[in-house]
Amino acid sequence: MTIPRDIVSPPKTAVPSSPSPSSFFNAGTSPSYGTSYFPPAPEKQLKPFNTGDIKILLLEDINRTARELLQKEGYQVEFHTSSLQDIDLIEKIRDVHVIGIRSKTKLTASVLDHAENLLAIGCFCIGTDQVDLEYAAKRGVTVFNSPFSNSRSVAELVIAEVIMLARRIGDKSMEMHSGTWQKGSARCREIRGKVLGIIGYGHIGSQLSVLAESVGMSVLFYDVVPLMAIGKARQVKSLSELLVSSDFVTLHVPETHETRDLIGRTELMAMKEGSYLINASRGRVVDLQALWYEPPLIIDQPVLSDVLIANLCLENIYMCSEAMRSGHLAGAALDVFPREPSADGPYFNKDLARWATEIRNLPNIILTPHIGGSTEEAQEAIGAEVGEALLGYINFGCTIGAANMPEVALRSITVAEESHLRVIFIHQNRPGVLRQVNDILGDHNVDKQMSDSRGDVSIRAQEPLLARLACSR
Ligand SMILES: NC(=O)c1ccc[n+]([C@@H]2O[C@H](COP(=O)([O-])OP(=O)(O)OC[C@H]3O[C@@H](n4cnc5c(N)ncnc54)[C@H](O)[C@@H]3O)[C@@H](O)[C@H]2O)c1
Repeated sequence: MTIPRDIVSPPKTAVPSSPSPSSFFNAGTSPSYGTSYFPPAPEKQLKPFNTGDIKILLLEDINRTARELLQKEGYQVEFHTSSLQDIDLIEKIRDVHVIGIRSKTKLTASVLDHAENLLAIGCFCIGTDQVDLEYAAKRGVTVFNSPFSNSRSVAELVIAEVIMLARRIGDKSMEMHSGTWQKGSARCREIRGKVLGIIGYGHIGSQLSVLAESVGMSVLFYDVVPLMAIGKARQVKSLSELLVSSDFVTLHVPETHETRDLIGRTELMAMKEGSYLINASRGRVVDLQALWYEPPLIIDQPVLSDVLIANLCLENIYMCSEAMRSGHLAGAALDVFPREPSADGPYFNKDLARWATEIRNLPNIILTPHIGGSTEEAQEAIGAEVGEALLGYINFGCTIGAANMPEVALRSITVAEESHLRVIFIHQNRPGVLRQVNDILGDHNVDKQMSDSRGDVSIRAQEPLLARLACSR
């Protein structure tokens, strides 16, 4: 700890000798947010806080890597293996500066309203759907996640599935589990020399490209943006060019309006006879019914009664199971589904969706419960990435990679700059605020400053002078 020093004129009220960290971070209290740029508050003496005063609550068995990183920094870390529900969550979140969660803890606006000292949320997972990002931003709470730490795990699973589909391992294994010994090479193939068509050449698609070439496959990819191909991979101009040329088609796109049902019946029929489909991206990207449906009769649907529609569907399902069995598609591997059970257990059945029971009965189809990115290595990487991001935010006000804030990052303060002070100010994006900030800090020889906006929220990082760190909002 450096010795606390003032950067504003001496306060008119007594400053506690050991201020809480939130007294720095919460210089403007959240209830007044949106009604005034600077809530009436006594001038504050900004001091470096003691890292031992930062309270962190980690839920849902967050990886050891993150726990150790945060504890080593001196923060108080409270750890729980499961999520907390309603009253317990509200009780715990009231007091902490940082909360770390995975996908089960829901941080809604009403929960966040109780978080009086909260500065940051760490989502130790890929998605951030479980957090009300916009509301968190309005309250000046920065959210971090880890979108890419499990890319390699997904790519490895897909390569494994390419081989398993080509050798019909799923069916062979099920036969053996049921006591049937059935040798034979019919419809079992090597993957060397085959064409892998990758749709979406981002983090996962490009990793997969490298792995596929290393086992002797040729790689084509289709992406909406022109991208540098790795190795001998080649970008094609259209989705249909990829579909007609590939022995295996694998999807690695985000779920967006454009990618919903990207692969439907027309696309499946455009694929090569005897080819394979793999989806480990998002469930709604493939129209699952197309896997077994024949084209529905073209009838003006509003004139059909619900009962008639239900009967037509059943008939189509029956016919189209035959279509997949006929071999136009030789197999498929699905890791993601349009609807997924919210808990572990025997829930992948007709109560989830009608297609759940239908696809379970198709031949040479590998079904996995959204585990593409679920490896110990990925969890460690996520723990390190989100843990580092939280540390960078608390200690240096860096918001790079934040899911709901503009990105600002002044370079790290060096040892030689021990007397520098870092001020982060989060405010509504309204004219006049920056002038008011400059009026306060202008006399203090500002060395560096950065400012950015995202929607209604702006963030400004300044490094005037003195002390190691203080943040204010
Ligand atoms: N199964 C799992 O456990 C698991 C784990 C991690 C990620 N994912 C999912 O995998 C997908 C890909 O992840 P990523 O990290 O590689 O994403 P990314 O953002 O790095 O790459 C996505 C690529 O898709 C391209 N793209 C977007 N729309 C497209 C379109 N209409 N047609 C063609 N290309 C398009 C983008 O340009 C980008 O290059 C995401 O949906 C992600 O949610 C699944």
